[in-house]
Amino acid sequence: MTPDISATFTGLKFTNPFLLSSAPPTESDSNIMRAFEAGWGGVVTKTIGLHPVTNVAGPKTKFLRSTLDGQLSMQKRPDTVLHSSWNWELISDKTLDWWVPKIEGIKQAFPDRMLIASIMAGSGSDKELAHWQELARACQDAGADAFELNLSCPHMDRKDMGSHLGKDQQQVSIVTHVVKEVARIPVWSKLTPSTTEIAEEAGAAFRGGADAIVSSNTFPSVPLIDPETLDFEMNVDGLVSSGGLGGPAILPQSLAKMAQLTQAFPDKPFSGIGGISNFGHALNYMLLGCGTVQVCTAAMLDRAIGPNVIKHLIEGMQQFMEKRGYQSLEDFRGLRRDNVVAHSKIRRPDGKDYRGGYDAEGYAS
Ligand SMILES: Cc1cc2nc3c(=O)[nH]c(=O)nc-3n(C[C@H](O)[C@H](O)[C@H](O)COP(=O)(O)O)c2cc1C
Repeated sequence: MTPDISATFTGLKFTNPFLLSSAPPTESDSNIMRAFEAGWGGVVTKTIGLHPVTNVAGPKTKFLRSTLDGQLSMQKRPDTVLHSSWNWELISDKTLDWWVPKIEGIKQAFPDRMLIASIMAGSGSDKELAHWQELARACQDAGADAFELNLSCPHMDRKDMGSHLGKDQQQVSIVTHVVKEVARIPVWSKLTPSTTEIAEEAGAAFRGGADAIVSSNTFPSVPLIDPETLDFEMNVDGLVSSGGLGGPAILPQSLAKMAQLTQAFPDKPFSGIGGISNFGHALNYMLLGCGTVQVCTAAMLDRAIGPNVIKHLIEGMQQFMEKRGYQSLEDFRGLRRDNVVAHSKIRRPDGKDYRGGYDAEGYAS
């Protein structure tokens, strides 16, 4: 029997658990429809807001690559492998009025595919909280299947928005609750990884009524300084500000955040993001308990929407399930969640076998 790779997540049925995350691959209706044609189970739109958005004068995203001998740079060089993406792109620079007919058109063309609207506003006043509701009403009336609340954009100056908001548990609860008040569709809260105990913010989101938690957004970071020019590799007039790191470099860090989350709330739905480019990476998140996973950087580098990435994710899942005799994703979801334990629970060698220092590990040789 062919394994069933569909996923039911927050009550929504996905043809497969692989989604494009909120980012350039989902910045337009043409991209999103190409993504559905390529086979993605769902997409999260680029974040939609009400404030006018103007991006920096210059590139918004670059890719950091490593040579075999460990030279990291954003400059194009032969024989390199991808280390990470770095971006300081803001949310969508298209207005809500632009997005509403696009959402309608996508849902008319692909009624059975899941379209999640990512939305973002502030939290400092009743007016800002009303913005969340205005965005939510418009997107759900246009046909969106769920919301993802962007509580995690890492490069906002405003203290009541993005990752600043996402670090404030009370505001996370309030914003989630305010959207829930008007939502007829599931609400996912996308949290920031730049916090110590992410399960605390997740708890706040659940108290506000969140149906699922999404993690991770990009990690705060700055580009490297070129030792020749002494300029940041990405800058405008010599200046840079904190941006977001994505791609392979953040996979283990994002997994650590996810392990904290799924252990704290084993019965709640989680969508995992960060550094996924192949099936093995996606499987890590699912073994920790995620019901869906999302991809950005790898898709950006594969014809903008990742046709080859999704093909290999689906094939990898089918082969994995066939080989192990799994019938549904629930047969293995969360299988390794409880293997992440406190350090003191890890076995130590018997006294006589114990050798301090690193000699035994052979780094020097
Ligand atoms: C250029 C760029 C723009 C992004 N824009 C958004 C956004 O508008 N909203 C959002 O929630 N996340 C945004 N993200 C974060 C991604 O959705 C994702 O969480 C992050 O890149 C980690 O996934 P990855 O390692 O697969 O890239 C953006 C990422 C990149 C690289």
